[in-house]
Amino acid sequence: MIKDRVNQLLQERQRGFSLPGAFYVDDDMFEADLEAVFATDWLFAGSVAEIRGPGDYITMEIGRDSIVILRDREGEVRAFFNTCRHRGSRLCLHETGRANRIVCPYHQWVYELDGSLINARQMPEGFDRASHGLHPVHVEVICGLIYVCLAETPPSLEKFRKTVTPYIAPHQPDRTKVAFFSTIIEEANWKLVIDNNRECYHCAGNHPALLVTLVEFALPDDPAANATFKGLMDRSTARWDGLGLPHAPADGGTEFRCIRLPFNDDCLSFTMDGKPACNKLLADFTEPDLGSVRMFRVPNNWNHFLSDHILHFRVLPLSANRTAVKTTWLVHEDAVEGVDYDLKRLTEVWTETNDEDRILAENNHKGVRSRAYQPGPLAPSEFMLNNFADWYCTKMADWAGGPGGRRIAAE
Ligand code: FES
Ligand SMILES: [Fe+2]
Repeated sequence: MIKDRVNQLLQERQRGFSLPGAFYVDDDMFEADLEAVFATDWLFAGSVAEIRGPGDYITMEIGRDSIVILRDREGEVRAFFNTCRHRGSRLCLHETGRANRIVCPYHQWVYELDGSLINARQMPEGFDRASHGLHPVHVEVICGLIYVCLAETPPSLEKFRKTVTPYIAPHQPDRTKVAFFSTIIEEANWKLVIDNNRECYHCAGNHPALLVTLVEFALPDDPAANATFKGLMDRSTARWDGLGLPHAPADGGTEFRCIRLPFNDDCLSFTMDGKPACNKLLADFTEPDLGSVRMFRVPNNWNHFLSDHILHFRVLPLSANRTAVKTTWLVHEDAVEGVDYDLKRLTEVWTETNDEDRILAENNHKGVRSRAYQPGPLAPSEFMLNNFADWYCTKMADWAGGPGGRRIAAE
Protein backbone atom coordinates (compact mmCIF):
# COMPACT_ATOMS: atom_id res chain seq x y z
CA MET A 1 0.00 0.00 0.00
CA ILE A 2 2.57 2.48 1.13
CA LYS A 3 4.75 1.57 -1.84
CA ASP A 4 1.82 2.20 -4.20
CA ARG A 5 1.38 5.62 -2.64
CA VAL A 6 5.10 6.37 -3.07
CA ASN A 7 4.92 5.37 -6.72
CA GLN A 8 1.86 7.54 -7.24
CA LEU A 9 3.58 10.56 -5.68
CA LEU A 10 6.70 9.92 -7.75
CA GLN A 11 4.54 10.04 -10.88
CA GLU A 12 3.25 13.43 -9.76
CA ARG A 13 6.72 14.83 -9.15
CA GLN A 14 7.94 17.35 -11.70
CA ARG A 15 11.65 18.08 -12.01
CA GLY A 16 12.40 21.74 -11.34
CA PHE A 17 9.68 21.98 -8.70
CA SER A 18 9.54 21.31 -4.98
CA LEU A 19 8.17 17.85 -4.12
CA PRO A 20 4.52 16.86 -3.73
CA GLY A 21 3.54 17.93 -0.23
CA ALA A 22 2.89 14.44 1.13
CA PHE A 23 6.60 13.65 0.90
CA TYR A 24 7.25 16.37 3.47
CA VAL A 25 4.37 16.05 5.87
CA ASP A 26 2.71 12.61 5.81
CA ASP A 27 3.50 10.09 8.52
CA ASP A 28 3.47 7.15 6.13
CA MET A 29 5.93 8.90 3.83
CA PHE A 30 8.15 9.38 6.86
CA GLU A 31 8.02 5.62 7.44
CA ALA A 32 8.92 5.13 3.79
CA ASP A 33 11.89 7.52 4.21
CA LEU A 34 13.18 5.50 7.14
CA GLU A 35 13.08 2.30 5.09
CA ALA A 36 14.13 3.61 1.69
CA VAL A 37 16.79 6.11 2.77
CA PHE A 38 17.87 5.80 6.37
CA ALA A 39 17.93 2.00 6.54
CA THR A 40 19.84 1.61 3.28
CA ASP A 41 22.44 4.37 2.95
CA TRP A 42 25.50 5.58 4.79
CA LEU A 43 24.67 8.20 7.41
CA PHE A 44 27.02 10.74 8.92
CA ALA A 45 27.39 9.99 12.64
CA GLY A 46 30.10 12.32 13.91
CA SER A 47 33.83 12.91 14.15
CA VAL A 48 36.56 10.74 15.62
CA ALA A 49 37.40 13.80 17.72
CA GLU A 50 34.19 13.15 19.68
CA ILE A 51 35.38 9.70 20.79
CA ARG A 52 39.10 10.07 21.33
CA GLY A 53 39.58 7.55 24.17
CA PRO A 54 38.45 3.95 24.82
CA GLY A 55 34.83 3.89 25.98
CA ASP A 56 34.01 7.35 24.65
CA TYR A 57 30.67 7.18 22.86
CA ILE A 58 28.12 9.24 21.00
CA THR A 59 24.57 8.22 20.18
CA MET A 60 22.31 9.04 17.27
CA GLU A 61 18.56 8.68 16.87
CA ILE A 62 17.32 7.63 13.45
CA GLY A 63 13.55 7.56 13.61
CA ARG A 64 12.82 4.85 16.18
CA ASP A 65 16.35 3.41 16.15
CA SER A 66 19.17 4.55 18.37
CA ILE A 67 22.78 3.77 17.52
CA VAL A 68 25.78 3.99 19.82
CA ILE A 69 29.15 4.75 18.24
CA LEU A 70 32.18 4.16 20.43
CA ARG A 71 35.93 3.72 20.57
CA ASP A 72 36.89 0.23 21.73
CA ARG A 73 39.97 -0.75 23.77
CA GLU A 74 42.02 -1.36 20.62
CA GLY A 75 41.24 2.12 19.33
CA GLU A 76 38.78 0.95 16.68
CA VAL A 77 35.55 2.83 16.02
CA ARG A 78 32.54 0.54 16.38
CA ALA A 79 28.78 1.02 16.19
CA PHE A 80 25.91 -0.98 17.66
CA PHE A 81 22.17 -0.76 17.94
CA ASN A 82 21.57 0.88 21.31
CA THR A 83 19.09 -1.83 22.30
CA CYS A 84 19.66 -4.39 25.02
CA ARG A 85 19.54 -8.06 24.03
CA HIS A 86 17.60 -8.91 27.20
CA ARG A 87 14.25 -7.15 26.91
CA GLY A 88 15.26 -4.32 24.67
CA SER A 89 15.95 -1.34 26.90
CA ARG A 90 17.95 1.59 25.57
CA LEU A 91 21.52 1.21 26.85
CA CYS A 92 23.41 4.50 26.51
CA LEU A 93 20.99 7.23 27.48
CA HIS A 94 23.05 10.31 26.72
CA GLU A 95 24.07 12.09 23.55
CA THR A 96 27.71 11.68 24.50
CA GLY A 97 29.59 9.99 27.33
CA ARG A 98 32.25 7.57 28.46
CA ALA A 99 31.67 3.99 29.60
CA ASN A 100 34.21 1.45 30.77
CA ARG A 101 31.67 -1.18 29.76
CA ILE A 102 28.10 -0.81 28.58
CA VAL A 103 25.77 -1.64 31.45
CA CYS A 104 22.05 -1.83 30.75
CA PRO A 105 20.17 0.48 33.13
CA TYR A 106 17.28 -1.99 33.44
CA HIS A 107 18.69 -5.30 34.78
CA GLN A 108 22.38 -4.57 34.46
CA TRP A 109 23.45 -6.92 31.70
CA VAL A 110 27.04 -5.94 30.92
CA TYR A 111 28.55 -5.64 27.45
CA GLU A 112 32.23 -5.27 26.51
CA LEU A 113 33.18 -2.39 24.20
CA ASP A 114 33.31 -4.90 21.33
CA GLY A 115 29.60 -5.59 21.88
CA SER A 116 29.96 -9.02 23.48
CA LEU A 117 27.76 -9.83 26.46
CA ILE A 118 30.04 -10.55 29.40
CA ASN A 119 27.64 -10.67 32.32
CA ALA A 120 23.92 -11.46 32.61
CA ARG A 121 23.23 -11.85 36.29
CA GLN A 122 20.68 -14.41 37.49
CA MET A 123 20.43 -16.04 34.10
CA PRO A 124 20.42 -19.84 34.43
CA GLU A 125 23.37 -22.15 33.98
CA GLY A 126 23.87 -22.87 30.32
CA PHE A 127 22.53 -19.49 29.12
CA ASP A 128 24.36 -18.73 25.88
CA ARG A 129 25.95 -15.31 26.32
CA ALA A 130 27.84 -15.62 23.04
CA SER A 131 24.67 -15.37 20.97
CA HIS A 132 23.40 -12.28 22.84
CA GLY A 133 25.98 -9.68 21.89
CA LEU A 134 24.87 -6.25 20.67
CA HIS A 135 23.71 -6.06 17.07
CA PRO A 136 26.55 -4.41 15.14
CA VAL A 137 26.18 -1.59 12.63
CA HIS A 138 28.58 -1.02 9.72
CA VAL A 139 31.09 1.79 10.24
CA GLU A 140 33.44 3.63 7.88
CA VAL A 141 35.84 6.41 8.86
CA ILE A 142 36.88 8.82 6.14
CA CYS A 143 39.34 11.56 7.12
CA GLY A 144 38.03 11.45 10.69
CA LEU A 145 34.36 11.56 9.63
CA ILE A 146 32.38 8.58 10.91
CA TYR A 147 29.64 7.12 8.73
CA VAL A 148 27.34 4.26 9.73
CA CYS A 149 25.00 2.10 7.69
CA LEU A 150 22.09 0.08 9.07
CA ALA A 151 21.78 -2.09 5.97
CA GLU A 152 22.97 -5.68 6.08
CA THR A 153 24.94 -5.11 2.89
CA PRO A 154 25.96 -1.45 2.62
CA PRO A 155 26.58 0.30 -0.68
CA SER A 156 30.17 1.17 -1.59
CA LEU A 157 31.66 4.38 -0.21
CA GLU A 158 34.88 4.10 -2.22
CA LYS A 159 34.18 6.77 -4.84
CA PHE A 160 33.24 9.20 -2.08
CA ARG A 161 36.32 8.32 -0.04
CA LYS A 162 38.69 8.66 -2.98
CA THR A 163 37.19 11.91 -4.19
CA VAL A 164 36.87 13.89 -0.95
CA THR A 165 40.08 12.77 0.76
CA PRO A 166 42.43 15.13 -1.16
CA TYR A 167 40.23 18.11 -0.17
CA ILE A 168 39.78 17.20 3.51
CA ALA A 169 42.96 15.35 4.54
CA PRO A 170 45.18 18.49 4.49
CA HIS A 171 43.02 19.93 7.32
CA GLN A 172 43.93 16.87 9.44
CA PRO A 173 40.58 16.32 11.19
CA ASP A 174 42.09 13.49 13.26
CA ARG A 175 44.29 16.05 15.04
CA THR A 176 41.34 18.07 16.32
CA LYS A 177 39.23 18.25 19.46
CA VAL A 178 35.62 19.24 20.07
CA ALA A 179 35.38 22.87 21.14
CA PHE A 180 31.59 22.81 21.29
CA PHE A 181 28.52 21.04 19.97
CA SER A 182 24.85 21.94 19.91
CA THR A 183 21.75 19.96 19.02
CA ILE A 184 18.60 21.78 18.07
CA ILE A 185 15.21 20.29 17.26
CA GLU A 186 13.51 21.77 14.23
CA GLU A 187 9.75 21.34 13.85
CA ALA A 188 10.15 20.52 10.19
CA ASN A 189 10.63 17.54 7.93
CA TRP A 190 14.27 16.52 7.44
CA LYS A 191 14.08 17.13 3.68
CA LEU A 192 13.05 20.74 4.24
CA VAL A 193 16.07 21.13 6.52
CA ILE A 194 18.31 19.75 3.76
CA ASP A 195 16.57 21.83 1.07
CA ASN A 196 17.16 24.95 3.11
CA ASN A 197 20.83 24.12 3.34
CA ARG A 198 21.15 23.46 -0.38
CA GLU A 199 20.48 27.03 -1.50
CA CYS A 200 21.60 30.50 -0.56
CA TYR A 201 18.67 32.18 -2.31
CA HIS A 202 17.37 32.82 1.20
CA CYS A 203 20.67 34.11 2.63
CA ALA A 204 20.39 37.80 1.76
CA GLY A 205 17.04 38.16 3.48
CA ASN A 206 17.83 36.07 6.55
CA HIS A 207 21.50 35.67 7.47
CA PRO A 208 23.13 39.03 8.32
CA ALA A 209 25.89 37.46 10.45
CA LEU A 210 26.71 34.68 8.00
CA LEU A 211 26.88 37.04 5.04
CA VAL A 212 29.66 39.09 6.62
CA THR A 213 31.96 36.30 5.45
CA LEU A 214 30.11 33.75 3.28
CA VAL A 215 30.02 34.18 -0.48
CA GLU A 216 26.56 33.47 -1.79
CA PHE A 217 27.73 31.73 -4.94
CA ALA A 218 27.99 27.97 -5.05
CA LEU A 219 30.17 27.54 -8.12
CA PRO A 220 33.35 29.22 -9.43
CA ASP A 221 31.55 29.95 -12.70
CA ASP A 222 28.18 30.77 -11.13
CA PRO A 223 26.18 32.54 -13.86
CA ALA A 224 24.81 34.97 -11.26
CA ALA A 225 28.29 35.91 -10.02
CA ASN A 226 29.64 39.41 -10.51
CA ALA A 227 33.12 40.63 -11.46
CA THR A 228 34.11 41.10 -7.82
CA PHE A 229 33.49 37.42 -7.11
CA LYS A 230 35.33 36.35 -10.23
CA GLY A 231 38.39 38.41 -9.19
CA LEU A 232 38.25 36.97 -5.68
CA MET A 233 37.98 33.47 -7.10
CA ASP A 234 40.99 33.96 -9.40
CA ARG A 235 43.21 35.30 -6.62
CA SER A 236 42.13 32.56 -4.22
CA THR A 237 42.59 29.65 -6.59
CA ALA A 238 46.06 30.90 -7.57
CA ARG A 239 47.04 30.89 -3.89
CA TRP A 240 45.56 27.43 -3.27
CA ASP A 241 47.22 26.04 -6.40
CA GLY A 242 50.52 27.28 -4.98
CA LEU A 243 49.83 25.38 -1.77
CA GLY A 244 48.72 22.23 -3.61
CA LEU A 245 45.20 22.41 -2.16
CA PRO A 246 42.42 21.19 -4.47
CA HIS A 247 39.49 23.54 -5.02
CA ALA A 248 37.63 22.69 -8.25
CA PRO A 249 34.12 21.21 -7.86
CA ALA A 250 34.37 17.43 -7.43
CA ASP A 251 32.20 15.11 -9.49
CA GLY A 252 29.94 13.64 -6.85
CA GLY A 253 26.84 13.30 -9.02
CA THR A 254 23.75 13.61 -6.85
CA GLU A 255 25.42 11.77 -3.95
CA PHE A 256 27.91 14.31 -2.71
CA ARG A 257 29.46 17.67 -3.41
CA CYS A 258 32.93 18.93 -2.51
CA ILE A 259 34.48 22.27 -3.41
CA ARG A 260 36.78 24.88 -1.91
CA LEU A 261 35.36 28.40 -2.04
CA PRO A 262 36.76 31.68 -0.70
CA PHE A 263 35.24 33.86 1.97
CA ASN A 264 34.43 37.45 1.14
CA ASP A 265 37.45 39.68 0.57
CA ASP A 266 39.64 40.06 3.67
CA CYS A 267 37.64 37.40 5.53
CA LEU A 268 39.28 34.24 6.81
CA SER A 269 36.75 32.49 9.01
CA PHE A 270 33.11 32.36 10.14
CA THR A 271 33.34 35.20 12.64
CA MET A 272 31.49 38.47 13.03
CA ASP A 273 34.51 40.39 11.71
CA GLY A 274 35.96 37.77 9.36
CA LYS A 275 39.18 37.44 11.36
CA PRO A 276 40.25 33.96 12.53
CA ALA A 277 38.24 32.29 15.28
CA CYS A 278 41.23 30.29 16.49
CA ASN A 279 44.79 31.55 16.40
CA LYS A 280 46.22 28.04 16.35
CA LEU A 281 45.57 26.91 12.81
CA LEU A 282 44.67 23.33 11.92
CA ALA A 283 47.28 20.83 10.75
CA ASP A 284 50.55 22.71 10.25
CA PHE A 285 48.96 25.49 8.21
CA THR A 286 50.72 28.82 8.16
CA GLU A 287 48.38 30.35 5.56
CA PRO A 288 45.06 31.40 7.11
CA ASP A 289 43.40 32.30 3.80
CA LEU A 290 42.15 28.87 2.74
CA GLY A 291 38.47 29.71 2.30
CA SER A 292 36.48 26.65 3.22
CA VAL A 293 36.04 23.20 1.79
CA ARG A 294 32.29 22.77 1.60
CA MET A 295 31.40 19.10 1.58
CA PHE A 296 27.84 17.80 1.45
CA ARG A 297 26.77 14.20 1.41
CA VAL A 298 23.26 12.79 1.14
CA PRO A 299 21.17 12.24 3.11
CA ASN A 300 22.21 14.00 6.30
CA ASN A 301 25.52 15.82 6.33
CA TRP A 302 27.26 19.03 5.36
CA ASN A 303 30.58 20.39 6.56
CA HIS A 304 33.01 23.28 6.35
CA PHE A 305 36.77 22.75 6.62
CA LEU A 306 38.56 26.06 7.26
CA SER A 307 42.14 26.93 8.11
CA ASP A 308 41.30 27.36 11.80
CA HIS A 309 38.30 25.15 12.53
CA ILE A 310 35.99 22.48 11.17
CA LEU A 311 32.19 22.43 11.29
CA HIS A 312 30.10 19.29 10.98
CA PHE A 313 26.33 19.32 10.61
CA ARG A 314 24.32 16.14 11.20
CA VAL A 315 20.64 15.96 10.33
CA LEU A 316 18.52 13.15 11.78
CA PRO A 317 14.81 12.50 11.27
CA LEU A 318 12.77 12.07 14.46
CA SER A 319 9.31 12.12 12.90
CA ALA A 320 7.62 13.61 9.83
CA ASN A 321 7.72 17.06 11.41
CA ARG A 322 10.70 16.90 13.78
CA THR A 323 14.38 16.86 12.91
CA ALA A 324 17.49 16.97 15.09
CA VAL A 325 20.35 19.11 13.79
CA LYS A 326 23.67 18.67 15.55
CA THR A 327 26.51 21.13 14.90
CA THR A 328 30.04 20.32 16.03
CA TRP A 329 32.90 22.83 16.13
CA LEU A 330 36.41 21.30 16.01
CA VAL A 331 39.69 23.11 16.60
CA HIS A 332 43.33 22.00 16.66
CA GLU A 333 43.83 19.43 19.40
CA ASP A 334 46.44 21.67 21.08
CA ALA A 335 44.35 24.85 20.94
CA VAL A 336 43.49 26.20 24.37
CA GLU A 337 40.16 27.88 25.11
CA GLY A 338 40.64 31.42 26.37
CA VAL A 339 44.15 31.51 24.92
CA ASP A 340 43.87 30.47 21.27
CA TYR A 341 40.13 30.86 20.89
CA ASP A 342 37.11 32.35 22.56
CA LEU A 343 34.12 30.01 22.52
CA LYS A 344 31.51 32.70 21.91
CA ARG A 345 33.50 34.15 19.03
CA LEU A 346 34.03 30.68 17.53
CA THR A 347 30.38 29.65 17.68
CA GLU A 348 28.24 32.78 17.42
CA VAL A 349 27.88 33.02 13.63
CA TRP A 350 26.58 29.49 13.16
CA THR A 351 24.55 29.48 16.36
CA GLU A 352 22.72 32.51 15.03
CA THR A 353 22.52 31.12 11.51
CA ASN A 354 21.19 27.75 12.71
CA ASP A 355 18.43 29.49 14.57
CA GLU A 356 17.53 31.59 11.55
CA ASP A 357 17.48 28.43 9.43
CA ARG A 358 15.35 26.63 12.02
CA ILE A 359 12.68 29.33 11.76
CA LEU A 360 12.78 29.19 7.96
CA ALA A 361 12.39 25.41 7.88
CA GLU A 362 9.60 25.47 10.46
CA ASN A 363 7.67 28.13 8.53
CA ASN A 364 8.24 26.14 5.35
CA HIS A 365 6.82 23.00 6.98
CA LYS A 366 3.76 24.85 8.26
CA GLY A 367 3.05 26.26 4.81
CA VAL A 368 3.45 22.90 3.07
CA ARG A 369 0.80 21.42 5.40
CA SER A 370 -1.80 23.80 4.00
CA ARG A 371 -4.35 22.54 1.46
CA ALA A 372 -3.20 25.42 -0.72
CA TYR A 373 0.33 24.07 -1.12
CA GLN A 374 1.37 22.90 -4.53
CA PRO A 375 4.92 22.18 -5.72
CA GLY A 376 6.51 25.48 -6.69
CA PRO A 377 9.15 26.31 -9.32
CA LEU A 378 12.84 26.36 -8.34
CA ALA A 379 15.12 29.25 -9.23
CA PRO A 380 18.36 28.53 -11.13
CA SER A 381 20.33 29.13 -7.90
CA GLU A 382 18.33 26.28 -6.34
CA PHE A 383 19.84 23.68 -8.67
CA MET A 384 21.12 21.66 -5.72
CA LEU A 385 17.54 21.08 -4.56
CA ASN A 386 16.91 19.40 -7.88
CA ASN A 387 19.99 17.20 -7.38
CA PHE A 388 18.77 16.27 -3.92
CA ALA A 389 15.23 15.57 -5.14
CA ASP A 390 16.58 13.46 -8.02
CA TRP A 391 18.62 11.42 -5.60
CA TYR A 392 15.74 11.10 -3.13
CA CYS A 393 13.20 10.10 -5.76
CA THR A 394 15.58 7.47 -7.13
CA LYS A 395 15.99 6.00 -3.65
CA MET A 396 12.23 5.98 -3.14
CA ALA A 397 11.58 4.43 -6.56
CA ASP A 398 14.20 1.75 -5.96
CA TRP A 399 12.55 0.89 -2.69
CA ALA A 400 8.97 1.04 -3.97
CA GLY A 401 9.86 -0.90 -7.10
CA GLY A 402 7.98 1.43 -9.42
CA PRO A 403 8.90 2.39 -12.98
CA GLY A 404 10.82 5.55 -12.04
CA GLY A 405 13.64 3.71 -10.26
CA ARG A 406 17.13 2.98 -11.40
CA ARG A 407 18.57 -0.17 -9.92
CA ILE A 408 21.43 0.80 -7.64
CA ALA A 409 23.56 -1.98 -9.11
CA ALA A 410 23.24 -0.41 -12.55
CA GLU A 411 24.58 2.99 -11.49
S1 FES B 1 16.57 -4.95 29.31
FE1 FES B 1 18.68 -4.78 29.50
S2 FES B 1 19.18 -5.98 31.17
FE2 FES B 1 17.05 -6.21 30.99
FE1 LIG C 1 20.42 29.31 5.76
